[in-house]
Amino acid sequence: MATWDLSNTKHHVLICNGSSCNQAGAEELTQAIRKEISSQEMDDTIHTTRTRCNGRCHDKCVVIHYPKGAWYKDLQPEDAPDFVYSLRANDDYIAKVSHSFDGQVFERSPGVVKGIFKDKEKVNKVSKIL
Ligand code: FES
Repeated sequence: MATWDLSNTKHHVLICNGSSCNQAGAEELTQAIRKEISSQEMDDTIHTTRTRCNGRCHDKCVVIHYPKGAWYKDLQPEDAPDFVYSLRANDDYIAKVSHSFDGQVFERSPGVVKGIFKDKEKVNKVSKIL
């Protein structure tokens, strides 16, 4: 257990360690990102947290960056250097962004699977029609 001083944190990186992401290499990805953060001497400004499933299993391995609100898909250990560098540059790692938040709209990147409706009322209406 640890209680870190987060007063210099600028980036919070949530690394999905749910079962689908774990089967796709989330442990190796977690280690690669943490190693790269240390290599780039960013330990004081980038904090990482392992999470359970984030509800986007198709996008495995999923990583989320706050406060930017950028969600990433298909991240592999070999992406770690460019991903961490993008944080350092205060930029997005564009090649793997699945969703981004501009402060008002949470937008899905082109080609990213839409997924299942979360609005239960609409799901029930569709079910009744089918
Ligand atoms: S296990 Fe990672 S999004 Fe579901």
